[in-house]
Amino acid sequence: MKKKQNIDWDNLGFGVYPTRSMWKSTNSINGEWDKGGLIPYGNIEISPAAGVLNYGQGIFEGMKAYHSSKDRLVLFRPEMNAKRISTSCKRLCMPEISKDYFINAILEVVRDNADFVPPYNKGGLYIRPVVWGTAPTLGVAPASEYTFLVYTAPVGPYFRGGIKPLNLIASESYHRAAPKGIGHVKAIGNYSASLEPVRKAKEDGFDEVLYLKAEDERLVEEVGSANIFMRKGNQLVTPRLAGSILPGVTRNSILKLAQDQLGLDVTEGDLLLEDLFTADEVFCTGTAVVLTPVGHITYRKKTHMIKDGNMGEAATELRKKLVHIQLEKKEDSYGWIYPV
Ligand code: COI
Repeated sequence: MKKKQNIDWDNLGFGVYPTRSMWKSTNSINGEWDKGGLIPYGNIEISPAAGVLNYGQGIFEGMKAYHSSKDRLVLFRPEMNAKRISTSCKRLCMPEISKDYFINAILEVVRDNADFVPPYNKGGLYIRPVVWGTAPTLGVAPASEYTFLVYTAPVGPYFRGGIKPLNLIASESYHRAAPKGIGHVKAIGNYSASLEPVRKAKEDGFDEVLYLKAEDERLVEEVGSANIFMRKGNQLVTPRLAGSILPGVTRNSILKLAQDQLGLDVTEGDLLLEDLFTADEVFCTGTAVVLTPVGHITYRKKTHMIKDGNMGEAATELRKKLVHIQLEKKEDSYGWIYPV
C-alpha cells in the first residue's frame, strides 16, 4: 500500500481535491472508444461550441473507493454504475461504454491515486466518471465526438455536521425532472435544474429539497442528491423506479439489506408525502450521502417532525450494515465488494 498523502483526513468534507491523474478517452461518432489512458489531473481544452457546454449533452456517475479493514482498496458494486452509465449514454445519444472498459478505467485511476484514498474509516475516494459531447455542435444535434473522463477526490461526509438528521423542504415551486424526461438517468441537466431550488432552500435554513412528482405533486420523488425511504412499522417504502426516479446503487443495496437482514417488508411503490409526516423513520440514500436520516419536513409552511426528530433504529442498523460491508468489517455475502 502506497504511503498516504499528507491530508487532514479528519476534516474532509465533500469537495474538489486535485489528485495525481485522471482517465481520458475519446470516441468519434459510430466509432469505438479509443484505448484511453491516464493523464495528469488538471484542466482540459474544449471547444466553446462543445455539445456538453451548449446543449448539456453530458452525464456522470458517482462511486467511492475505500481503504478496507483488510488493508486493501475496494470498490462497491461498480457493475451497477457501469450499467447505469450505459443507460445514461443511450438516453443522451452518446456512445455506450462497455462494463469491462468502464471498470478498467476506474481501476487504473484508483490504483494510480491510491495514496489519496482516505485511511480506513476516514471517508472514501469519490470517483467521478463523466461522458461529454465534446465536438463543436452549433445546431441542436448529437456531437460527433465524445470524451470519457474519470477524476477523483478524497471525501468525507456530504452534509456538514456528519450524520445529523436533515431538515427538508417539500417543494411546490420546483420539479426535479419532467415526466418522460431524463430524471431516470444521471444527466448533468437534472443537477443544474436543482441549483436554484437548493440555493433557496439553504437560504431559508433547510438542508435539501424534497421533490414531488410533477404529475400530481402528492407523491414523493427524491431528494435530488439522494433517493428517499420511509419506514412505518415493519413496512419500508421507497418510490418505484418509474419515470424520473434515479436507480441508486445505495437504494438497491438498502432494499436488499432491509429485507434480508432486518426482515422488513420492503415495497417499491407510491410514496405519499402526507404519509411521511406520520412515519416512524424517513431517510435518504446515495453514494455521496450514504444513508442520512431526515428529522423534519416542511410543507406549505408547516414543519413536521419525523417521530422524535432523531435517527431511527432501522436507519442506524442499515447504515451500519452497509458501511460494514463497504469497509469489509463484515462478510460480504452478496459479492458487492470489488477489490482494486
Ligand atoms: C452521488 O451520490 O454520487 C451523486 O451523484 C449525488 C451527487 C450529485 C453528489
